[in-house]
Amino acid sequence: MRFVSGIALAVGLAGAASATIHPRSQDSRDFFALHLDTATSPDHVARMLGARHEGQIGQLTDHHTFSFPRDQSSDLAALLDNIKTKRKVRRRSGENVARSADPLDSILWSQKIAPPRQRLQKRAPPPSEAIARRLNDVPEKSAIDAQSDIASTLGISDPIFKEQWHLFNPLQPGHDLNVTGIWLEGVTGHGVVTAIVDDGLDFDSNDLKPNYFAEGSYDFNEGGPEPRPLLIDDKHGTRCSGEIGAAKNDYCGVGVAYDSKVAGIRILSAPIDDVDEAAAINYEFQKNDIYSCSWGPIDDGATMDAPGVLIKRAMVNGVQKGRDGKGSIFVFAAGNGAQYGDNCNFDGYTNSIYSITVGAIDRQGSHPSYSESCSAQLVVAYSSGSGDAIHTTDVGANSCYSNHGGTSAAGPLAAGTVALALSARPELTWRDIQYLMVETAVPVSETDGSWQTLPSGRKFSHDWGFGKVDTYSLVHKAQTWELVKPQAWYTSPWLRVHHNIPQGSQGLLSKFTVTADQLKDANFGRLEHVTVTMNINHSRRGDLSVELRSPAGIISYLSVARHRDKEPVGYLDWTFMSVAHWGEPAVGEWTVIVKDSEVNDFSGEFIDWRFNLWGEAVDGTTQGLHPLPDEHDDDHPYEEAHVATTTLEPAPSKTNPAVTNPDEHHDRPVNQKPTDQPSAPTVTQPADEELEVVNNGTTAGSAASSTSTAVSDNYLSSYLPTFGASKRTQVWIYASLGMIIVFFIGLGVFFQLQRLKRRRTNPQDDYEFEMIEDEDEMHPMTGPGGRTQRRGGELYNAFAGESDEEIFSEDDEEKPYRDRLANIPERDDEESSPGSHLLTEKH
Ligand SMILES: *[C@@H]1O[C@H](CO)[C@@H](O)[C@H](O)[C@H]1NC(C)=O
Ligand SMILES: *[C@@H]1O[C@H](CO)[C@@H](O)[C@H](O)[C@H]1NC(C)=O
Ligand SMILES: *[C@@H]1O[C@H](CO)[C@@H](O)[C@H](O)[C@H]1NC(C)=O
Repeated sequence: MRFVSGIALAVGLAGAASATIHPRSQDSRDFFALHLDTATSPDHVARMLGARHEGQIGQLTDHHTFSFPRDQSSDLAALLDNIKTKRKVRRRSGENVARSADPLDSILWSQKIAPPRQRLQKRAPPPSEAIARRLNDVPEKSAIDAQSDIASTLGISDPIFKEQWHLFNPLQPGHDLNVTGIWLEGVTGHGVVTAIVDDGLDFDSNDLKPNYFAEGSYDFNEGGPEPRPLLIDDKHGTRCSGEIGAAKNDYCGVGVAYDSKVAGIRILSAPIDDVDEAAAINYEFQKNDIYSCSWGPIDDGATMDAPGVLIKRAMVNGVQKGRDGKGSIFVFAAGNGAQYGDNCNFDGYTNSIYSITVGAIDRQGSHPSYSESCSAQLVVAYSSGSGDAIHTTDVGANSCYSNHGGTSAAGPLAAGTVALALSARPELTWRDIQYLMVETAVPVSETDGSWQTLPSGRKFSHDWGFGKVDTYSLVHKAQTWELVKPQAWYTSPWLRVHHNIPQGSQGLLSKFTVTADQLKDANFGRLEHVTVTMNINHSRRGDLSVELRSPAGIISYLSVARHRDKEPVGYLDWTFMSVAHWGEPAVGEWTVIVKDSEVNDFSGEFIDWRFNLWGEAVDGTTQGLHPLPDEHDDDHPYEEAHVATTTLEPAPSKTNPAVTNPDEHHDRPVNQKPTDQPSAPTVTQPADEELEVVNNGTTAGSAASSTSTAVSDNYLSSYLPTFGASKRTQVWIYASLGMIIVFFIGLGVFFQLQRLKRRRTNPQDDYEFEMIEDEDEMHPMTGPGGRTQRRGGELYNAFAGESDEEIFSEDDEEKPYRDRLANIPERDDEESSPGSHLLTEKH
């Protein structure tokens, strides 16, 4: 019944309104999303508020939409705000918020629904010249024969199967999904449905028709059951669908899971509001198993955008209730903004623990220059680059497409492999799938300097995640996989920092120690994801970068400096995610290091942070489900035992590790003289004060955990004698300094040992420099400085004989920059000119 009302809502509101910008506002009403007490009927609330009940929001139990005449809706908004404030006050005072006679207390949460927006972008830059520049190499005859044998054994007569190198690559053996062996074992996707959440699915295509799953399909843009592509460029979803579920027949090629079903959920062809988006990603979630999403906020290197609370709740709802509680599988394309310094941790969809983030690798095994890196990236799958792209189905009865690319094409291939794993082992939960990805991905380009070896023995790279998807081992492992126990989590208290962030090479360190007892109390066993939620005040967001260092010394680059990001805000309750610590021991000291690499007029303050460890429960029988996410709340009660402390610490005197915008700054001396160091005195003073606080906090605090914050400063020595601090404080400082130096030296030794086989061993390299090597390597295009440039050169060489525009072509010079990016997906022109600004920015 809930489901029916959801449909009715969608049909009623979106129907007949497709041409308008705000489908929900046609009758001049405002809309509100309310989360109600389970015992309270929405009709009752409607009467109480004088509002109209519009229906349940998708599959979100107890979440309903209400409408109110626009000219009076400010009254309702004020009333709802008032309820929120009251609730907050009572929660703060420790009162039981649930126990109250006030009927308005049945409203647990509310939000006015913003008008529909077009904020999601498809993720397919056209490798427009790929076809023209196709490699001239000829495969070995034996490889051609092997391909033919497979096709005839499996009865594949699809005309473009032989061009589908991502399924079987005769030219670069091994550079494919390694899927044919699993087909030969009879695993072809039976019984699994993948919903392609996109701009439609051409169910009239002869290649898709046999596998089209109408029941799981819906058009949220037009309001109707058929996700038919209607706009001229509604081709993306069909192409993605073909990668997964193109039938084995006489049309085009085959999908990775060619006996699985595909559903189309159309959301990208018109502005959409959070209610519809939340409904879309839970649509028919007992029948749709996988949601393949090749889109996200714009990849311009300047945007930091996350789904709204309703959508976040729908994702949690999906993993908790979808597939009969085993969890919907969300697969997201990592993003195509790497050339603009973008990073998938600035995208709240890809950095969700509930999504599998998939980057790209090309047919020669190179890293495509568009594919974003980040600590939340789980795996890579094949896509465009090195002169070719993905060959798949297109819109039309018998149309094929040979130029599908970007991370948009990588995501669905990974989704297809998940479909195979689920068809072999339907009882896998959403977390089992992530484990299987982690355990069976194959590291690539292992000598490129981007890999860290984890305590688990696995390797992780911010560029490649755990490696490329290998379907054969994925499905095989799935067949015998011991299902994981439910998810447990440990949440740290809010950790107060309130300290100015020094500019330049210094880092502001804040530490928190997790104890075995805390994890025991949290029923926490094996570590999976780590998330860090931060508040930083800053007048230029792109200057900031953040690292997370684990007790075992593994580094996650949670955030990187983005020179295009000029937003005069810092991070407001932003949550970064890392999969790099998967399987690590969680007990010990976790350190967040915030840097502002740019010495300029833009500065900021690290306010506070908290972090979450997500993993497997020790005792599955007692473990409950995580509550639905809530919205940002400024109220961060700091616990006495967790007062952050500040101390000064010398940083290495070599290169500025955090400069990631060498475009403008590579010539700038990275070491400022002490007299040029305006921030030093202001750093010193608060540090001194903070020290007093920590001494107090430490003695008063529990032994269970503590936090500390340290500023690293090149020029401490020049300040030491006149430090102005009390003797006790100075002793404390020097003692801390000593310990931290020892720690750094130890870490430096550790890294040197790890990196002995690296290309260059600079005797002046130290810990900080080593650290930044990895960072640079995440930004292959950012630097003319030593390693960075070599790395860039390697990447360019990967595309030898091709120019940049082949991978990322643009021809609308007159359009504003963001529009150009916004339009990247669907250009089929063979002729294009490189954006000259792109080229200049790379130098
Ligand atoms: C690829 O599949 C074959 C079986 O077809 C298997 O023997 C091989 O191990 C797989 N490759 C990897 C890297 O696991
Ligand atoms: C952040 O900066 C703004 C503007 O400078 C200021 O008004 C605000 O108080 C700051 N917040 C904190 C927590 O420092
Ligand atoms: C320690 O901190 C507590 C709480 O902030 C405060 O009440 C107490 O006076 C402090 N003690 C000292 C010795 O500063």
